[in-house]
Amino acid sequence: MKPVVIRSGVSACSAAGVPGLSAGLRKQLECVLIPPAAIQGQIRRLARAIVRDHGRRKEPLQMVVVLKGGAFFGVHLAQEIFRQSGPAVRLNFIHASSYGGATASSGSVHIEGRLPAVKGGRLLIVEDIVDTGLTLWRLKQHLLKKRNAASVRICALLSKPDRRLPWLARKLEIDYTGFVIPDLFVVGFGLDCAESFRELPFIAAVKAGAPPA
Ligand code: XMP
Ligand code: MG
Repeated sequence: MKPVVIRSGVSACSAAGVPGLSAGLRKQLECVLIPPAAIQGQIRRLARAIVRDHGRRKEPLQMVVVLKGGAFFGVHLAQEIFRQSGPAVRLNFIHASSYGGATASSGSVHIEGRLPAVKGGRLLIVEDIVDTGLTLWRLKQHLLKKRNAASVRICALLSKPDRRLPWLARKLEIDYTGFVIPDLFVVGFGLDCAESFRELPFIAAVKAGAPPA
């Protein structure tokens, strides 16, 4: 399944056409990059691809949702899989934070949270955004090598390939990607800026130096 590629930066998008955007939000957000209907449409297509790939296997689909950002996406994706008569879904939540330091490639990722017995299981990591790729790479290795998962697939709502660490560019395969976006800091649909904006039903670029909500 092909991701939607958003090539233009903030110059080509606007906050127009998104109902319910208060004057306060308009001051903080540069523009709406992906409106709600486009996100929902792409989640439907992602769910279709996941249901198709899961095939006739009877076992539930074990999702590993990366908090906090992946929570909104994970819930919408699980519901869409249900609507498309897909497999039963088990939602598991973990925290993963990367400590890149000066060189992101040497950064380690701290993983917290309980998972069910995943030994021999087929897992689907659900993440909000892939940036350098380090968090997902380390998490995938952890699940495969330390937790002995049989297979680990990755589903990300957004990806910023321009930011990928060179050594991960080929190595880290994102099995399902919703949108490819330019190198912008974005918020909404789970993504935050100092804990603000997670609840927005769209993806927006924040104005540089905007005061927190
Ligand atoms: P890496 O670099 O490990 O990082 O792929 C992935 C994590 O970085 C955060 N991130 C963002 N958060 N807007 C956000 O709100 C962004 O544009 C952004 N880019 C990266 C996010 O937590 C993600 O899981
Ligand atoms: Mg995240």
